[in-house]
Amino acid sequence: ARPKVIFSGIQPTGVPHLGNYLGALRQWTRLQDEAADDTTLIYSLVDLHAITIRQDPNQLRQWKKESLAMLLAIGLDPKRSTIFHQSDVPAHAELMWILSCQASTGYLGRMTQWKDKTSNEKDGSEKLKLGLFSYPVLQAADILVHKTTHVPVGHDQAQHLEFAREVANGFNHVFGQGKEVLVAPETLISPARRVMSLTDPTAKMSKSHPNPKSRILLTDSEDIIKSKLKGAVTDSLDGISYDPEMRPGVSNLIDLLYHSSAEDGYESQEALAKDLEGVSLRALKEKTAEAVDMQVRPIRERYSEIVENRAIMEAAAAEGAEKATKSGAATLKKVKRAVGL
Ligand code: ADP
Ligand code: NA
Repeated sequence: ARPKVIFSGIQPTGVPHLGNYLGALRQWTRLQDEAADDTTLIYSLVDLHAITIRQDPNQLRQWKKESLAMLLAIGLDPKRSTIFHQSDVPAHAELMWILSCQASTGYLGRMTQWKDKTSNEKDGSEKLKLGLFSYPVLQAADILVHKTTHVPVGHDQAQHLEFAREVANGFNHVFGQGKEVLVAPETLISPARRVMSLTDPTAKMSKSHPNPKSRILLTDSEDIIKSKLKGAVTDSLDGISYDPEMRPGVSNLIDLLYHSSAEDGYESQEALAKDLEGVSLRALKEKTAEAVDMQVRPIRERYSEIVENRAIMEAAAAEGAEKATKSGAATLKKVKRAVGL
């Protein structure tokens, strides 16, 4: 079998929250720690995706810095994993252009994210930007430019992976002359359920939600974690039970407790809930806060050591950019030759 190349990305649009961690970032470090010696791991801060919506330049610079510090703080090792800002590696944007000359606009228009945006847009298409329409092509280029074999993603991203596979197969069919120029990647779906908002447990926890109490950031102090969980919306039913449909708030707390390392011993959320039957909601919230804090504490402490350490940050960014540039250049050369450029 060919050696694995694992690639994933996160937008540098704020300090990552617990949903990002349990849904994505924790799996990145686990993949790193369990990887075979010949596995390549590539993790990108996808800043070119962040500008598909308008960003304040100083805010974006700050977020890029914080996001890089967070990738180091969760335990990604820049010697073992390639960690880089997407815009430091021009091959991503260059491959995107070549691939966009093959991508069908009909297909892109049917992708859910675009459909949601257009159906909400009352002012017509004036405000809708081309970058937002075509970002799945950039996402495909991000993956394909590194000859990625495996992409760890959350459930919400499966559709885009399918698109990346079709782009790769389509390109090989048209330009490959029987050879595999681009590699169609496989999906590694994250095992964790979606983490829900603390203030509206029917919606996912998100960086963009206006209420900061809806999410727990990986930089939150113990007191803040406690107070956010204390205020978490639940329900007025008696006792504790695990039922994400009927009791989304309580079930979200059970999920958080279950996925925190302290409760690893339970074989399912239901089994954990059964043990909590006689516990009050208040006690469940406190227990969850303790478990979350235990998990977040080492990350938060390492983050505060790193984020203002320019030497560590600059060295990590430079090392990542160099490795990712090499990786991308090799694919781009092949692609350009295949197309006749
Ligand atoms: P956000 O939606 O908060 O802006 P991103 O879009 O940057 O976060 O997502 C980064 C990664 O985190 C993706 O792999 C995504 O699937 C995952 N993710 C985001 N929110 C959640 C959540 N609430 N629960 C689980 N995973 C999530
Ligand atoms: Na998102």
